Amino acid sequence: MTIYTVSLIGFGGVNRALAELIAERNETWQRELGFGLNIVGVSDLHLGSVISPNGIDARMLTATRFEKGGFANLSGGSAEPRSLHVVRSAPADIVVEATYTDPATGEPAISHCRAAFEAGRSVVTTNKGPVALAAAELKAMAAACGVGFEYEGAVMSGTPVIRLAQSALAGAEITGFAGILNGTSNFVLGRMQTGLGFAEAVAEAQAAGYAEADPTADVEGFDVRLKVVILANEVLGATLTPDQVDCAGISALTPAALAEAEAAGTRWKLIGSAARDASGRITAAVRAERLPLAHPLASVSGAVNAITFQTGLLGDVTVTGPGAGRIETAFALLSDIVALHRKATPLALREAAE
Ligand code: HSE
Repeated sequence: MTIYTVSLIGFGGVNRALAELIAERNETWQRELGFGLNIVGVSDLHLGSVISPNGIDARMLTATRFEKGGFANLSGGSAEPRSLHVVRSAPADIVVEATYTDPATGEPAISHCRAAFEAGRSVVTTNKGPVALAAAELKAMAAACGVGFEYEGAVMSGTPVIRLAQSALAGAEITGFAGILNGTSNFVLGRMQTGLGFAEAVAEAQAAGYAEADPTADVEGFDVRLKVVILANEVLGATLTPDQVDCAGISALTPAALAEAEAAGTRWKLIGSAARDASGRITAAVRAERLPLAHPLASVSGAVNAITFQTGLLGDVTVTGPGAGRIETAFALLSDIVALHRKATPLALREAAE
């Protein structure tokens, strides 16, 4: 049976959810997916770091006392940040990068990726920053180091869109896409449709746990802009950077404007889109658009994501699903590990004869 050793870098909601899934489902995965996971390193800015070559019990990791007491400190000391030390030193096949990362710089996630590749470890990440800002460099580095780099959860969390477009829709001649790529802003628009003001709707989104404490990136379109860059580059072969994408959010919309649109048979949605024109030029934008009510994206309500790929051979292909959530995003990490496993990336496999 194949067991992949993993280091969890960042132990917030997403990697905790992955640890829970490992605790609950490792045996099922071994049966159904052909591999299991063994956590050998964990690092979190607030909790501390630990490396255990023999593995860390995922059940213990998620137990209350770890929440309160923190992890054991690393022995031996290290001049570099503990997270980098764990990336390099824990005997892991796969580094699971789910730190709180600054979307403007992609750090610390980019540094974690580079360090992992140098150390011969594959990386799976849910962070948008490394993919939107440094995908070309990181992919080249991973290839040069003979390891894998997967990031399905960077867009629409567990709802598979990157690999769907790259694999299942390969050959369908994708010419563009338009999506609701931010659940918080879609929730806010839905609440404003019922007459709630923008600030009240944002407060509800925060209370429901969708919006960040600072919801700017969600409602001003910056979060969607990163996702558009990732999708345009991955799916359309663009080489966009975030500053090349015109971006406007939903904060200027009012309940009255939304009601007026409804009365006219349309609905405002925050849409991230990109398209290739006849000359091959790719343009992308994030903006609120008035969609006809019959449009497949018009009826997507709540903190949900959806995307329509425009294809030459199939016409429009629309996928709807969760775009956030700890278990949903942890699932994306699992699907990345499945992808590594199936690509037979030369991970340092630990085969245990049975
Ligand atoms: N904050 C995002 C959203 C999820 O509301 O959709 C993470 O990208």
